[in-house]
Amino acid sequence: MVFRLSCCLSISLFSLIIFLSPFAYGQLDYGFYAMSCPNLFLIVQFGVSAALKNDTRMAASLLRLHFHDCFVNGCDGSVLLDDTKDFEGEKNAFPNRNSVRGFEVIDKIKADVESACPSTVSCVDILTIAAREAVFQSGGPFWYVPVGRRDGLTASKKAANEQLPSPFEPLENITAKFASKGLDMNDVVVLSGAHTIGYAQCFTFKRRLFDFKGSGNPDPTLDSSLLSNLKTTCPNVDKSNNMLAPLDTTTSYMFDNAYYKNLVSNSGLLESDQALMGDPRTAAMVNSYSMYPFLFSQDFGASMVKLGSVGVLTGQAGEIRKKCGSQPPPPPPIEVIEQAYTAHSGHGSIGPVIAVLAVITILGAIAVMIGRLCSGRRIMGHGQYDFEGWVEAKCGSCINGRVDPPPPHPPQSSSSGAVGSGDAVAAVVSAEALREVKDEGVTRQHNPSESTGS
Ligand SMILES: *[C@@H]1O[C@H](CO)[C@@H](O)[C@H](O)[C@H]1NC(C)=O
Ligand SMILES: *[C@@H]1O[C@H](CO)[C@@H](O)[C@H](O)[C@H]1NC(C)=O
Repeated sequence: MVFRLSCCLSISLFSLIIFLSPFAYGQLDYGFYAMSCPNLFLIVQFGVSAALKNDTRMAASLLRLHFHDCFVNGCDGSVLLDDTKDFEGEKNAFPNRNSVRGFEVIDKIKADVESACPSTVSCVDILTIAAREAVFQSGGPFWYVPVGRRDGLTASKKAANEQLPSPFEPLENITAKFASKGLDMNDVVVLSGAHTIGYAQCFTFKRRLFDFKGSGNPDPTLDSSLLSNLKTTCPNVDKSNNMLAPLDTTTSYMFDNAYYKNLVSNSGLLESDQALMGDPRTAAMVNSYSMYPFLFSQDFGASMVKLGSVGVLTGQAGEIRKKCGSQPPPPPPIEVIEQAYTAHSGHGSIGPVIAVLAVITILGAIAVMIGRLCSGRRIMGHGQYDFEGWVEAKCGSCINGRVDPPPPHPPQSSSSGAVGSGDAVAAVVSAEALREVKDEGVTRQHNPSESTGS
């Protein structure tokens, strides 16, 4: 009985685990590539490290690339796609054109990942991990990146123009755009902290230096020494438009909380940055991040995980691109596709159905066994196909000591059984056990190999 209970318990736990796994499937998961591409995180780490050695500024570029991917119709690697005859990609949208960088870094990492684990890891997952590495390798926080995203099939220049926040927008508009992605005002403040690294082109903040809101004067909130430095970098002529100034003047390449300290001292570069001090709710957060770097680190990781799960494609949606900039050639005619499906079940719609049927069958068998074992009667086992008898014989020794063949002297068997504890319950248990052992003896007479085996 004790044996049966423990067997029931372990089998129930086992089937519970089997049952739960389909629910984890289809969502992001830290261990998604643990079996299929165990070195993925190392490959991305090395790839980002090599890129930063060559060009420190690439850290900010990769982080921005990830943000611009997720903010336009979800994290789906769409920003990486080149234009096709079917759509205009996002690379040439106004917020991206001549400013997003890092495509060749992602392509290089993707090539390394493809040679280690072909057709397994999505470009969007590589970009998401690369963004974390970029932050961490710049001295910023580490956070675990759940993976399992799939690459989108399309991109939209129009969507990129409409959905990405702009440095010229008021805070309310930016907050509204974040809200439409499921990101709140705290995420606005925290993710703006990414401007602790990276550079901005002069045209994105120039009007603050010379003609703020048509006043003919500089932005009165801008710190005066920063103002004169910026005027040197970005003189009031058109050809300075693409010159670069650091978003965080104090520690330009270090991922720290200096961005917030700058805002507190009126030294934010972009209007949209400094605007965080103009609303008491966001200003309170800026103040606390400027004082508590650990708090910023913690919140940044959390907001990045949120950002990284905006509109993701999982399960069978989307695809795994071979090359991040392009999609595979158009699919062959229908007949060929059907042949391919039968040849490689699992890629088509038949494979999953078979898998589901197999799982249901196994679960059914397990359920019958549990019912059987728990009720103590035998349904499945007959003659030499006594499956339960076999399970008890195999399982019994490791769980509850050996289940012996019919003992010559029943009292002996009970003393070697569960009666050791000596209370009433144990006595009932031992009586049960006895009866079971007798039943077993009857069954096993038809099965000499089993009884001689033990
Ligand atoms: C190194 O960085 C420069 C400047 O960004 C870039 O032009 C070049 O392609 C990079 N080289 C490698 C090997 O990544
Ligand atoms: C801010 O949003 C409002 C309402 O959607 C819109 O009318 C306005 O043009 C936006 N402002 C900017 C600068 O984009």
